[in-house]
Amino acid sequence: MYKIQTLNNISVAGLNRLPRESYEIASELGHPDAILVRSAKMHEMPIPDTVKAIGRAGAGVNNIPVADMSTRGIAVFNAPGANANAVKELVLAGMLIAARNIAQAAKFARGVEGDDAAINKAVEAGKKQFVGMELPGRTLGVIGLGAIGVLVANAARSLGMKVIGFDPSITVRAAWKLQSDVEAALSVDDLVSRSDFITFHVPLTDHTRHMINAERIANMPDGAVLLNFSRSGIIDDDAAVTALDACKLYAYVCDFPSNLLKDHPRVVTLPHLGASTREAEDNCAIMVADQVRAYLEDGNITNS
Ligand code: MLT
Repeated sequence: MYKIQTLNNISVAGLNRLPRESYEIASELGHPDAILVRSAKMHEMPIPDTVKAIGRAGAGVNNIPVADMSTRGIAVFNAPGANANAVKELVLAGMLIAARNIAQAAKFARGVEGDDAAINKAVEAGKKQFVGMELPGRTLGVIGLGAIGVLVANAARSLGMKVIGFDPSITVRAAWKLQSDVEAALSVDDLVSRSDFITFHVPLTDHTRHMINAERIANMPDGAVLLNFSRSGIIDDDAAVTALDACKLYAYVCDFPSNLLKDHPRVVTLPHLGASTREAEDNCAIMVADQVRAYLEDGNITNS
């Protein structure tokens, strides 16, 4: 019998895929055969020699030292696509939050005081500052056309947006899933120069770090909106703040906490909520539990 330790936040649906006596929920590592983890930073933990596999209940593996694990012969599994719908829905919400100034308007409405007559008067006077824009006819640029990017692109088409996408390594499978009227941009620069909203669905790597910098922001249409539901670092946030202050950018919605961004009036920061639905948590946990179990029991590698 093998032993699997789960470090944090692995849904019960995933644990139910494992033999009951095989797993242990722990806050510190013992000497398991495998580890299931969501967001714990594995770089900061000595991984015991007993470990043969790590399952990350999410798409990104940046909390796992993958290269070190490969050198040690430890297999790393993730759950590509398992939370894609949840992220897509939050990206759509993010676009609407930006387009209709929802976060700022809600903050304003909450701060109005007095009796109902006074509140109505203040609200009538104040709401003019939150006049927004509608999405049909506007262009959404999608950088990264994996499981999430494809869902976002297709959903934006159904909202009447024009959609252009860029992915240097698009697979035939992803291309098939894209609606035929999603246009392929020639390059990041081409996409950036034509998009009113830009959303990123690429991992943070040396190649994607600061993919959006001051120079690229300068080439965006005036009043563009940035949506980062991937990882902090893909956008040069100092450059974004400068562009927001100069009204070059209209808004920036990001799904990660940031000291620099959190108090900016044109920024909405969320606490990395993209994958936080009951359905996505179950899907991810089930996918990695199945993969790790298949690997430990039969040596099968089923990561797709
Ligand atoms: C992902 O990489 O899929 C997300 O970071 C998942 C999560 O929020 O745990």
